[in-house]
Amino acid sequence: MNYLLKRLLERRSWKKIYKQRLTEPFHLNFISVFVYLFGSFANKVSYDLVIRPQYAYGILTAAMEAKKRNMTKITVIEFGVANGGGLMNMIKIAKRVTKSTGVIIDIYGFDTGKGMPSPVDFRDHPEYYNTGDFPMNRELLEKNIKGKAKMIYGEISDSLKKFTLDLDPNSPIGFVSVDVDYYSSTKDVLELFKSNSNLFLPLTYVYFDDIFMSHHNSKSVELLAIKEFNDSTPLRNIEYHHFFINQRIFKNAQWVKQLYFLHVLDHEERSVTKKERNQRVLDNPYLKFKGNKKQFN
Ligand SMILES: C[S@@+](CC[C@H](N)C(=O)[O-])C[C@H]1O[C@@H](n2cnc3c(N)ncnc32)[C@H](O)[C@@H]1O
Repeated sequence: MNYLLKRLLERRSWKKIYKQRLTEPFHLNFISVFVYLFGSFANKVSYDLVIRPQYAYGILTAAMEAKKRNMTKITVIEFGVANGGGLMNMIKIAKRVTKSTGVIIDIYGFDTGKGMPSPVDFRDHPEYYNTGDFPMNRELLEKNIKGKAKMIYGEISDSLKKFTLDLDPNSPIGFVSVDVDYYSSTKDVLELFKSNSNLFLPLTYVYFDDIFMSHHNSKSVELLAIKEFNDSTPLRNIEYHHFFINQRIFKNAQWVKQLYFLHVLDHEERSVTKKERNQRVLDNPYLKFKGNKKQFN
């Protein structure tokens, strides 16, 4: 609650509420009050009533997908942790997701531990970010995340390989937040998505934190790294799902345009040799079926 109050006291939070929330239909905001007071965690996620709704949606949906597959664990990762606001939010959300779904969430954070490395060129937007920005109070963060999340320190280009070798397919990656600001760092992060297909859910949610900024474009930072990744990996695709917005109640929320889908095209589940499943039969409301609907010609 303290955190919520602190956020509400920030001017940018009010700007966001004014532009993204109060522009939505009145009746939906009215219903939200009741959902906030009496709704389940899943209802609150549907109504964007959880802080960092993108994390809540990504983690909850990934856990539900894992549960459908009788899996008991998933892995979620934040690339770019700084002082840990996002990572600690992930921990809080994961706790609620586990309570609601029974699925356990393994949480990892990646960071240099000492702020931004040096930018390489214009593609990293040095006019926005530069060496040493976003330092970390490592000791304080470690104290607060102990036993709840694990930090991997160092340059992502150095630390990622070993991390992927240690990953457990029984806890597939279901949600990833990419918040490393530079093109060069995002490119390093996306190497993760070239790992074995069984380390992911067949559709894994990837949130890109910076694509909304006015000076960002398809020749820099995240959009460029995504394009290069897609061009170089025929069996993996990071894509914005244009109909995702239609699945959301609140359509003006910015995060809805920042959540991408990683399609793992070589995932076992997408294979033509996939194990037996029930035949799918379409109903026809104009016809009357007697007995088993599946027996019509
Ligand atoms: C904007 S901050 C992250 C903020 C955080 N997600 C939050 O919500 O509070 C970006 C972070 O990315 C980290 N970073 C950028 N490039 C990196 C790299 N190549 N390797 C490791 N960490 C990197 C920086 O150390 C910095 O702390």
